[in-house]
Order: sequence, then C-alpha cells, then structure tokens
Amino acid sequence: MLELVNVSKSYRHRVETKKALDSVHLSVNTGEIVGLVGESGSGKSTLARVVMQLESIESGSILFNGQTVTRKNRKSFYEASQLIFQNASAALNPSWTVREILLEPLRTMKGDREAHIRHMLTRVKLSESHLQRYPSELSGGERQRVNLLRSLLVEPKLLICDEIVSNLDRLIQKEIIDLLLELNREMRMTILFIAHDLQAVMYMCNRVYVMKDGEIIDESTKTNGEFHFSHSYSKQLFDSVLGSRIKAQINESL
Ligand SMILES: Nc1ncnc2c1ncn2[C@@H]1O[C@H](COP(=O)(O)OP(=O)(O)OP(=O)(O)O)[C@@H](O)[C@H]1O
Ligand SMILES: [Mg+2]
Repeated sequence: MLELVNVSKSYRHRVETKKALDSVHLSVNTGEIVGLVGESGSGKSTLARVVMQLESIESGSILFNGQTVTRKNRKSFYEASQLIFQNASAALNPSWTVREILLEPLRTMKGDREAHIRHMLTRVKLSESHLQRYPSELSGGERQRVNLLRSLLVEPKLLICDEIVSNLDRLIQKEIIDLLLELNREMRMTILFIAHDLQAVMYMCNRVYVMKDGEIIDESTKTNGEFHFSHSYSKQLFDSVLGSRIKAQINESL
C-alpha cells in the first residue's frame, strides 16, 4: 500500500546540515500494522511528515498503491490516508466544540453527518454529551479519542499514528490500542504505528522497523508472538523491555 524507496531528507542548522532521513526503505502492506521505533530525534516524525507531503524530500520516492505521490496528485492520497499526531491538544481547535471539530472533515459528505458521528462516537467510547464540549473541557485521553475519531470519520485506508498513546495513562493507552486493533481487523485499516513505547509496539504490530540517526537499521516480522532482530542496537532496545516485563511477572508471582 505504502512504499518509501531510498528517501532522504536533511535539515540545515546554520552551518551544518543534518540528515533526518538517510536512504530510507520502508513498506506497509494492505491490512498490516507496522511499527516504527527509535530513539528521540531518529527521524520518525520526519518520516510521517514527508509521507503526508507536509515537507518535501530531497531524493527517493513515496508510492501509494504503486503510484508516486507528488504534490500534484496528493489529493487522492489524502482521501485515503490520515496522520494523527501525538499532541491532541494542539491538533484540536480550542474555539470549536467537539461537534464542530467532528463535522469539519465531513463537509463534503452526503447524507446524515450527525448520525454518522453518533454511530462512530460509541466506537471510541465517547458519548453524545461530549459533543457540545470544548477541547479544554476534556481529559487528555478523551481529547486523543476525539482526535482519533476525527481521522476515522472519513474511513481512511491508511492511518499513520505518531506517538498517539504517549502521555496517556496505561489504561487509556490499552483502550486506544485495542480500538486500533479492532479497526484493523474489522475494516482492514492499514496502520503505521510510530512509538517510543516498545511494549505497545510488541503488543500490536506484525512487523517493526527500527530507526537510528535517520536510517532504518533493522526490521523484524513477528513469528510465534516474538520479534527477532539482527542489529545489536535493536536487540538492546527490545531486550530491556523484555527484561522489565519478566521482572514484572516475577514480582506479580511473589
Ligand atoms: N523543522 C525542522 N527543522 C530543523 N530540524 C528539524 C526539524 N524537524 C526535525 N528536525 C531534526 O531532525 C531530526 C529528526 O527529528 P524527528 O522529529 O523526525 O525525530 P523523532 O524520531 O520523531 O523524535 P521524537 O521521538 O522525539 O518525536 C532531529 O535531529 C531534529 O532536531
Ligand atoms: Mg516524533
């Protein structure tokens, strides 16, 4: 569905240039949930932004269903893809009610927009009483669910999630992750899940890419519920999670 071929992108900082993306190859097949992990500053959000054509690339190409996405033909790509950012507060217009926020992406929809919204509200465990509230009157988890719902209303084929469960408590994280899994199963929604949280990634993804300093350094497909990485950096990264999980299990059994 989505393919990045040899994509590079640099940022200039006064005298020096920094490669935020360095010859990146990445693919997401229809129906897959693919994870993208890496330390802060490794280029994950840059990758999401260039895919969504919010920034230009220096070299390489981005293909959607086999067609190169360009600024000219990005309209059809936008109809099929949605990007959700980490910071739900910044993404929601503070002077609009939740109803106005949710109606906006449905401007061109024919039929009963309110009914469509009401139907989808229950999917993200929000109620009609949320509709007349302003973003400032919602909890962080509710805000992220409104943000997610806004992207889901147009029924995208591809959803790119950039750290959408960071800063949420574990219970709400799990709710959102389970919702994404359900959407993937029921609507065959393809998901690129960008996250710091390795535990979330291990739980929900079929395949994971590891990024470091703008490069994809490792990739693994889950087999028998586990990932097998070859690069020492990713082994370290994931071993520490496994380690703490085992410790937690030991603590629980004590
Ligand atoms: N608009 C920009 N102008 C200049 N440099 C930028 C810009 N955006 C990102 N960078 C730099 O590019 C590199 C990659 O940043 P990016 O935001 O993609 O990282 P990230 O992996 O998403 O990090 P995090 O996990 O903290 O969100 C960083 O070194 C960052 O400082
Ligand atoms: Mg980021």
